[in-house]
Amino acid sequence: MSPEVKGIFLGTAAALGVLGLAFGLSPLLQTKEEGLPLKRGAAPVATTASLTGEAKQGHELFDRNCAHCHGEDARGDEGPNLHNLAKSDARIAAILKGGIKGEMPSFAKKFTDADVQALTSFLRTLKD
Ligand code: HEC
Repeated sequence: MSPEVKGIFLGTAAALGVLGLAFGLSPLLQTKEEGLPLKRGAAPVATTASLTGEAKQGHELFDRNCAHCHGEDARGDEGPNLHNLAKSDARIAAILKGGIKGEMPSFAKKFTDADVQALTSFLRTLKD
């Protein structure tokens, strides 16, 4: 083998080696990225991921209908903090259906009884 050919050969081998290394490492790098908390934009209610059934449905209703006043995490914004509510289910249902004059809209037309029940289940999960 002439020195030039040998040089090209070694150069190619080195380039392939670098490529191989990069591809070989990429799965490792990806795994590392997956481990990072990529929760941007996700609702910051700590319990969301573990909610099931009715409470999960209630959380979705909350995000769409209540979060802009009571805060994404229901800890209060324009409306009050809804954690550790001391109200009965019946009282909560009455507030949702009747609204609070001048403060909070009525959801009587928007929600079925099942929706109110789901929201109540969700509110019950909000404990500090
Ligand atoms: C337009 C803003 C607004 C929206 C939308 C809203 N609320 Fe309210 N909510 C308020 C305000 C303000 C109060 C407090 C009124 C008061 O104390 O007089 C309140 C009070 C409450 C209370 C009583 C809390 C307490 O401790 O007395 C509950 C329960 C409640 N809201 C639940 C909800 C739920 C569930 C939704 C979504 C279906 C919702 N609210 C949507 C503004 C809002």
